[in-house]
Amino acid sequence: MQVVREKTFVPARCEPGLFVLTSQIKGERREGSVVGAVLLGLSLLLGGTLAAAQTAPPREWHTPSAGNVARGMALYQDRCTACHAVDSNKIGPAHRGVMGRRVGSLAGYTYSVELARSRLRWTPQTLNTWLEDPEELVPGQRMGFQVEEAQERADLIAYLATLK
Ligand code: HEC
Repeated sequence: MQVVREKTFVPARCEPGLFVLTSQIKGERREGSVVGAVLLGLSLLLGGTLAAAQTAPPREWHTPSAGNVARGMALYQDRCTACHAVDSNKIGPAHRGVMGRRVGSLAGYTYSVELARSRLRWTPQTLNTWLEDPEELVPGQRMGFQVEEAQERADLIAYLATLK
């Protein structure tokens, strides 16, 4: 019986010291890892901001070259009228007055939220980017159509500019 008591007594006396020691070590480790995580977070944030600032230069706008209105009109009939009309909303909005109009602003047509909120204006430059790749200009927009040829875009834009 005595042996059993001693056995249980000895570790009980050692335990408080051990406990303080291990909790101190744990405490230090925890503080250390918190500081480390904060520093890591800050450096990631800083690195991310710097990287973003370096890799995202302001957009370059490309003014289309001179366009041919007659060719633009033919292209419009051929490519755009499945979804658009000059004077009425179809799948896409009506185009009369589009040049100079705020993007996504024609009353009576329900635009994607992304287009309506884009805060851009239709100019030869914005139209050029839009027709080349609508998704690049306004991510989340709903026009699934692109015009890859630069001269065709220029012709279309020249025609759109006549729709006053
Ligand atoms: C497959 C259908 C489709 C075709 C083809 C299409 N569009 Fe669109 N277009 C749309 C839709 C849909 C929208 C509205 C997009 C949104 O709300 O995100 C739109 C929007 C536009 C706008 C924005 C107008 C505004 O009021 O802000 C322009 C400009 C435009 N299209 C030009 C063209 C031209 C030019 C062509 C032909 C080369 C063309 N689209 C072909 C469906 C189409």
